[in-house]
Amino acid sequence: MTRDTLSLDGRVAMITGAARGMGREHALLMAERGADIIVNDLNADAAEETAEECRALGRKATAMACDNTDIERFVALIGEHEAEHGRVDILVNNAGIQGNKLSIEEIDEKIWHAMTDIKMKASFFAVRALVPGMKARKYGKIINTSSIFAMEGSFSMSHYTGAASGVLGYVKGWARELAPWNICVNAVAPGTVATELTINSMGWDVIKDFEKTVPMGRLADKKEIAYAVAWLASPETDFLTGQLISPNGGQTIVGI
Ligand SMILES: NC(=O)c1ccc[n+]([C@@H]2O[C@H](COP(=O)([O-])OP(=O)(O)OC[C@H]3O[C@@H](n4cnc5c(N)ncnc54)[C@H](O)[C@@H]3O)[C@@H](O)[C@H]2O)c1
Repeated sequence: MTRDTLSLDGRVAMITGAARGMGREHALLMAERGADIIVNDLNADAAEETAEECRALGRKATAMACDNTDIERFVALIGEHEAEHGRVDILVNNAGIQGNKLSIEEIDEKIWHAMTDIKMKASFFAVRALVPGMKARKYGKIINTSSIFAMEGSFSMSHYTGAASGVLGYVKGWARELAPWNICVNAVAPGTVATELTINSMGWDVIKDFEKTVPMGRLADKKEIAYAVAWLASPETDFLTGQLISPNGGQTIVGI
């Protein structure tokens, strides 16, 4: 007899930045595994397309289009979608923007805020909005998206690296604070994945060079990050909290 311990049957997952890239992959995999999905993104049409793909998999799915850095509207919409679904058990803080190669002197206040507001401010307020329901049900899974750069550092992208490290700080704080309610908080730190974000910010030449530094000799596939995130959302990790997993082809072997 086999037990499907990866099943997300009966769960509702909200994934930020799920119109494309890794977020879309998280949404589709979790829908395949039985979860109903709230597809959040700035891009309304593409969010609706992802939601439609989740519905085609037999799940209930709603598109929640907004700029997550507009906290008042973001939180109001979270409340509406939570009410519509009756609960939110899983939150994946995935939305992010590209961190172009910029020196410290080139990162002005506007650029710094654009990065920090989506990675750190929006993630915090999503958790603040959803924690009361999770506490009441004594169950929850929160997964923050960091980056390999939080472990390795990066060349001239310190606003991105700082924000990717900041969400790890949240994981440590929230994991301890929420453990008594059976709420697990973990982070995923993807190695480089070829998505629109990295292609636009690095370009193919840099991505190809980067690939050579990965012990496994290739970039991650979006699916490989989604498998890690869906595992962190599953009952298999009900005793795992405050941790970071990094599917990166061996890149941080010396850094662990
Ligand atoms: N691609 C990589 O190599 C890589 C590596 C490590 C970490 N990450 C992180 O993983 C996450 C996903 O990256 P991706 O490569 O799939 O990027 P992506 O650009 O393909 O997707 C990000 C999504 O977030 C949405 N978004 C951006 N700002 C938003 C806002 N203000 N409100 C609502 N939605 C917003 C975008 O519209 C987009 O659909 C990001 O947080 C990124 O920093 C990416």
